[in-house]
Amino acid sequence: MFHSCSEKIETDLTQTAFIPKPVSVEATGSAFVVNSSTIIYVQEGIQGLLPAAEILAKNINQLTGKSVATETVSSAPAKGIYLTVAADGGLAAEGYKLNIGEKLITVEGADAAGCFFGVQTLLQTLPVKVATDQPVYFPTGVVEDHPEFGYRGAMLDVARHFFNVEEVKQFIDFLAMYKMNVLHLHLTDDQGWRIEIKSWPKLTEIGGKTEVGGGEGGFYTQEQYKELVQYAADRQIMIVPEIDMPGHTNAALASYAELNCDGKATELYTGTKVGFSTLCTDKEVTYQFVDDVIRELAELTPGPFIHIGGDESHVTAHDDYVYFVNRVQQIVVKHGKKIIGWDEIANAELVNDVTVQFWDDIENTTMGVQKGAKVLMSPAARAYLDMQYDSTTHLGLHWAGYIEVDHGYNWDPATLVEGVTKDDIIGIEAPLWSETVTNIDEVEYMTFPRLPGYAEIGWTAPAERNWDEYKTRLAKHGKRFEAWGIDYYKSALVPWEE
Ligand code: ACM
Repeated sequence: MFHSCSEKIETDLTQTAFIPKPVSVEATGSAFVVNSSTIIYVQEGIQGLLPAAEILAKNINQLTGKSVATETVSSAPAKGIYLTVAADGGLAAEGYKLNIGEKLITVEGADAAGCFFGVQTLLQTLPVKVATDQPVYFPTGVVEDHPEFGYRGAMLDVARHFFNVEEVKQFIDFLAMYKMNVLHLHLTDDQGWRIEIKSWPKLTEIGGKTEVGGGEGGFYTQEQYKELVQYAADRQIMIVPEIDMPGHTNAALASYAELNCDGKATELYTGTKVGFSTLCTDKEVTYQFVDDVIRELAELTPGPFIHIGGDESHVTAHDDYVYFVNRVQQIVVKHGKKIIGWDEIANAELVNDVTVQFWDDIENTTMGVQKGAKVLMSPAARAYLDMQYDSTTHLGLHWAGYIEVDHGYNWDPATLVEGVTKDDIIGIEAPLWSETVTNIDEVEYMTFPRLPGYAEIGWTAPAERNWDEYKTRLAKHGKRFEAWGIDYYKSALVPWEE
């Protein structure tokens, strides 16, 4: 036996526990060994590639203690790692081709997003830890891949409990590792208003001051919010901001007396009831307020969507609700954005290009489709990250049932709701409501290990997914969660590796 540096390392890329599962993986049996002269090259002139290179470099550096450099080039190098965008348009949107050779790794994306996702695939081939005297290498082969749905998201409720900028960035990192591309921020609710609106400053001065349980709450300044938008964009994630209305508005109603029909400000609220608040739908000032909020928010939002909430407006009369949602849609359109709303908004007349977020009501959702809307799939009984795993889970709620890891994984968005087909659906989103979730450790516990499953539902075709095979891949991610310091639920249904 020879034990030299040039000894061939045998590998099998097909054995990597990729999540989400790629369209195709082919192994060529050898290795690309990382050394101190490895350079990550980025194709010149393509917006958005450099952050992917920097994230790849940072991960390699952390694993190896070696510092790999990044460099911009105008043509493909002969060796190293090369991030490039396909010139011929032959790849599906967000798709990529990852070609790992012994000397050269090429991550070719359909676009910068595809390239970023290819980098995430490459990173999953690395071990969690490497002994200092061992080589760090990538197994050789080819991965070709693209997503099933264009919208693959999670929601964080920062209103019931506030999560600061650093915590939201951690959540963004979790999404990025699994090729999710949307973070929906539920920015306002009865218990808190979390985004600075310069034309209505008391929303945060008063409405941002507390949270469920009476803690100190908080809010994002517009500068902090822009920082989050950029941090997400560097990871190919779009932030969808939600202003929930006309219900779920007590924080606004406590901040400004004139938004109430009786002209009296309400008290701040720190409990967890829903459905008791409403903006005054027949006062003009309400629409001035909505216009100002949406205008400022649209200016902070590079993505196409603004989420207008619309759920559980139990104290708004039906006709008032319809009138309000109709007017709010016009305001969002005027500010150049598209509307997403919870499934109740299907009761209004829908403008073009509305997306109804299915969470609860099948009739609302199918009515939305009949009115020409698209659907975002967030069935509470399958996709709510705040639902408990089982009756012993110490956090979370169970009004929509328990969601063990298999139950969260084992469904197909395109067949779950009769009358809603694949063509109607833009994608899936897993919401984390924060009535019971107070800090990032608790976020992690409810999010992991279910999040990778939602990512796979969004990315991988249903014919390629089955729980018995998936659980063996998920089992191998337990060590990753531990290495990342993620506090996760060690479901007995998953054969975790010791
Ligand atoms: C919701 O869970 N109220 C959308």
